[in-house]
Amino acid sequence: MNPFELKPKKLDSYVVPLNKLFLQPYNKHEVDAFTKVRLILAQGTEFEANANSHQMARHTYNNDIRRRIANIRRQEQLQHKMLSSLKPKDENMLETTLSYEQLAVELTAIMAQRAKNYVLKQQLDFALLEDFDHLYRFCDLLEMEEGKHFEKYIGNYTEVMPGRPTVAEFRHPNDDIRFAVSANKNELLTNIDIGIITAAEQQTMNFYMNLGAYHPNDLGRKLFSEIAMIEEQHVSGYESLKDPDMTWLECLVMHEYTECYLYYSLYQDEKNPSIRRLFEQIFEQEVAHLHEACDLLKTYEGKPFDEVIPYGNFPELIKFGENRHYIRKVLNDVNLTAVKEGYVKVSEMDKNSDFCTYQRKFVGSGSKNPSHMVIEKYISKNGEDLRYQTAPHPVKELQDRKSDNITVGRCECCLSGKC
Ligand SMILES: [Fe+2]
Ligand SMILES: [Fe+2]
Ligand SMILES: [Fe+2]
Ligand SMILES: [Fe+2]
Repeated sequence: MNPFELKPKKLDSYVVPLNKLFLQPYNKHEVDAFTKVRLILAQGTEFEANANSHQMARHTYNNDIRRRIANIRRQEQLQHKMLSSLKPKDENMLETTLSYEQLAVELTAIMAQRAKNYVLKQQLDFALLEDFDHLYRFCDLLEMEEGKHFEKYIGNYTEVMPGRPTVAEFRHPNDDIRFAVSANKNELLTNIDIGIITAAEQQTMNFYMNLGAYHPNDLGRKLFSEIAMIEEQHVSGYESLKDPDMTWLECLVMHEYTECYLYYSLYQDEKNPSIRRLFEQIFEQEVAHLHEACDLLKTYEGKPFDEVIPYGNFPELIKFGENRHYIRKVLNDVNLTAVKEGYVKVSEMDKNSDFCTYQRKFVGSGSKNPSHMVIEKYISKNGEDLRYQTAPHPVKELQDRKSDNITVGRCECCLSGKC
């Protein structure tokens, strides 16, 4: 599929009237977990489309450009409203959160396995273990507070057990920045994946930042706050990979192409007939956005689109499926942390490093971190934590279900209080 070869209708013809904006929500008792994951991924890309377009509008005096991107932006808004109307009223924030973290885990694993760029692959593997840990902590909270078992929400696609413990994920901001990946035009998939994962993490960060305080009790409110901090670290890491040399209009072309690619993937992967049709409908709109963006690039920068994307055929599509084996393999890296642009074993860290200093100052012992307290509380009520494992945890220190290990991934000197 090559969206540059398609002939979209005029942009205006895709405007959806208000009375067609609110769709029939899915049934939360019947919907497939991956359908929810795809819907959240689509909403994340619309958030990014809006954010990028608004930023672009603030960086030009040219009102013709500003008007034309406002027209595209309005459609991104309409797409977002249709997508978000599919969430049923009876699905609460914590239930939705499980799908957010499942998306983060599964999408990151898919991209890490196909990544050709080493800088991107390392960042994906690194962040994977953190979202994996978040999923486990939110699952335990949901069952403890509401008596709802996670399997109903995430199926048995994703294992639920500790990753890099959340307490160990707090790093100094100096250690979240990676080297930018120059947009090598032959590595289209690398550029697409950086765009998609940044949008997804950004949406998760915003979701927890905006709505975490609406959780009905303090432990949950604090857990959302704590994990929102880590999601911000993920956004900082992923966005730093983006190519800073692209102009705003080149960036717009790349964004619209990425949306085309994403909706075509979702359309091919989705089984629910009405949601599949919606993805197809939005894909057609995105093709019109892409052609409009290319025309803007040609008109105002005199560049043909193939200077940004030389070969328009979609690379390998995103398909949600089996990633448990891969995630188990990566779990052996729980003891890594980041130092500037690189990654090292925590045991090799200097006690005066930014990581150790920040851990001492911001986290302390970690025993009062909500992410730890949730699991300790679950264990004290039930005798052991709540997990879904297809085999013993691959990391020996994380096998004990009767106590939450908060020493893995942290520097020994801070834990012993000797430094
Ligand atoms: Fe869109
Ligand atoms: Fe997460
Ligand atoms: Fe994340
Ligand atoms: Fe778009």
